[in-house]
Amino acid sequence: MFSLTDRVAVVTGAASGMGLAIARRFTAAGATVVMFDRADGTALAQELGATFHQVDVTDEASIAAACDAVAEQHGRIDVMVNNAGVFATAAIEASSDADWTRQYQVNTLGPMHGIKHAARHMPEGGSIINTSSVAALMGFPEYAGYSASKSGVVALTKVAALEYGPRGIRVNCICPGSVETPMLASQDNAAEETGLVTVASPICRIIKPEEVAALVHFLASNDCGAVTGAIIPVEGGLTSGFTPALADAAITSLAALT
Ligand SMILES: NC(=O)c1ccc[n+]([C@@H]2O[C@H](COP(=O)([O-])OP(=O)(O)OC[C@H]3O[C@@H](n4cnc5c(N)ncnc54)[C@H](O)[C@@H]3O)[C@@H](O)[C@H]2O)c1
Repeated sequence: MFSLTDRVAVVTGAASGMGLAIARRFTAAGATVVMFDRADGTALAQELGATFHQVDVTDEASIAAACDAVAEQHGRIDVMVNNAGVFATAAIEASSDADWTRQYQVNTLGPMHGIKHAARHMPEGGSIINTSSVAALMGFPEYAGYSASKSGVVALTKVAALEYGPRGIRVNCICPGSVETPMLASQDNAAEETGLVTVASPICRIIKPEEVAALVHFLASNDCGAVTGAIIPVEGGLTSGFTPALADAAITSLAALT
């Protein structure tokens, strides 16, 4: 059940955080794993028994050549996880075209390149998983550029599911909440975000990369052959509504104002 034996899986952004956890889980489940990242992941790949290609997902020629190399070595690509991403915050009044363009290029155009070039080598039964964010499902102040780039991944996933479905290829999207990775640790607002989810999320904590990897493992396997075009939150229930703790905090704040 949920075996990935004999499946050739590519993971982008695999040298850190969630991508690394996904690569680790895939190897444990029996997949042949190929890690793509802009940063050097050679040593990590060796440790996992995977292989590594240095790829910038914003550069179509770079990702196309790497997908061709995987297919030449392994014969095909069964699973493609478009996970590489970058993050920046700014109020709209302080937003720059450069920040928006960078996030669009990595977070939205990157998955498009990954789908386009992995699918050239994908047989029937293939699975593509794109990493969006809870920021595509609900608004957060100062997240406009990031949210817009991740909302594009939701739209891209739905269209790709329609276009590749007749070839027997599934395309799904995950929307993580706050996950304990180097990206979150590097955010200026890391402490505030971590504190907020303890009251705003029903699980009262941030998420572990391994918990995201478990969902990606499920989507990569052929046990869920009827799941495609799905936008799946893995956000500890953050989008469910107001937790009692959040409601109490809001009521207390309101009482202090009156
Ligand atoms: N950490 C969170 O709280 C969180 C929440 C929701 C969604 N996400 C998304 O999850 C994904 C993984 O994030 P993470 O938290 O593991 O981050 P991370 O920073 O730990 O890892 C991201 C990886 O992507 C790579 N990368 C960045 N730009 C690249 C490029 N142009 N080409 C190739 N590789 C590139 C980096 O080198 C890095 O190894 C991202 O798409 C991120 O936006 C993260």
